[in-house]
Amino acid sequence: MRVTIFGGTGLLGKALTRIWQGDELTSLGSIDADIRSPQTIKRVIEQHRPDWIVLAAAYTDVDGCETNQQLAFDVNTQGAIDVAEAAKDAGTRLLFLSSDYVFDGEKLSPYEIADPRSPRSVYGKTKAAAEERLLNILPECCIVRTSWVFGVDGKCFPDTMLKLAASRSELAVVDDQRGSPTYTTDLARAIQELCHSDAKGIVHVTNAGDCSWFEFARYILHKSSSSVLVKPTSTEKFPRPAQRPKYSVLSPTSLHKYGIHMASWTDAAQRYLAERASRTKSVQH
Ligand SMILES: NC(=O)c1ccc[n+]([C@@H]2O[C@H](COP(=O)([O-])OP(=O)(O)OC[C@H]3O[C@@H](n4cnc5c(N)ncnc54)[C@H](OP(=O)(O)O)[C@@H]3O)[C@@H](O)[C@H]2O)c1
Repeated sequence: MRVTIFGGTGLLGKALTRIWQGDELTSLGSIDADIRSPQTIKRVIEQHRPDWIVLAAAYTDVDGCETNQQLAFDVNTQGAIDVAEAAKDAGTRLLFLSSDYVFDGEKLSPYEIADPRSPRSVYGKTKAAAEERLLNILPECCIVRTSWVFGVDGKCFPDTMLKLAASRSELAVVDDQRGSPTYTTDLARAIQELCHSDAKGIVHVTNAGDCSWFEFARYILHKSSSSVLVKPTSTEKFPRPAQRPKYSVLSPTSLHKYGIHMASWTDAAQRYLAERASRTKSVQH
């Protein structure tokens, strides 16, 4: 199988590029292929003739999207639409990465794939609009919604907590937003399996279980033997430009249909810490 990844230089894209085995892979960053240019997308697809496109490229700065709304739309919605149009013309399958932020967070039980979208942030709105258009353009496309992504290839929540813990004695972390942390390695493996399974429609892919940001930080710091004191705080006391869902746990039913079962987020967090430590060691040597 030939696979082209847009967003190959990002947190998930780097993990996809590293773990994907047995297929012919082309991994592209924004310098290689800016998805705001339909001509570039067309040229890339004509050149590589992929069986699958994995569209992980996005403007992911959730707060930045509130102020740079045009950029958010151009990349996350129009860019995705243009990739889908080009994939349709070339007869290429498309897997699009979407987000738990397409939901408002008012539900009290895990979101199912058929639950209505009701995004509150600009980022969530651009992803929700892309989902709707893609399902019209390419009804056979696969939309993978994921959440709270972390991994060793870039900036992410546990990395930020570990860096802050190195210079502070106390950290306050919000305890009133719940979701499922998702390790890039596990997400990348599931994406490869979904492509091999000819997946279609919306699929929720996160590590199993859920927590608040406070619980996630406390677990990471405890497992790395940090002595920093982690205290719970509220979203109200820690305002951000973009509104986040209070609860955005995604039900795994759609993923289980493909026989894919994800490890718990605690298991994933431990593997992340081990991988991070071994990278730090190899950089030091
Ligand atoms: N991180 C999360 O917590 C999270 C949660 C839910 C869903 N997602 C979704 O999962 C996907 C991967 O996220 P991530 O965390 O890996 O993102 P990321 O680390 O921010 O990486 C974004 C990627 O998109 C590329 N990109 C940005 N603008 C582009 C453009 N105009 N044309 C082409 N490529 C462009 C970047 O390329 P360069 O670096 O080369 O500029 C980079 O490779 C995204 O669709 C995101 O919305 C992420």
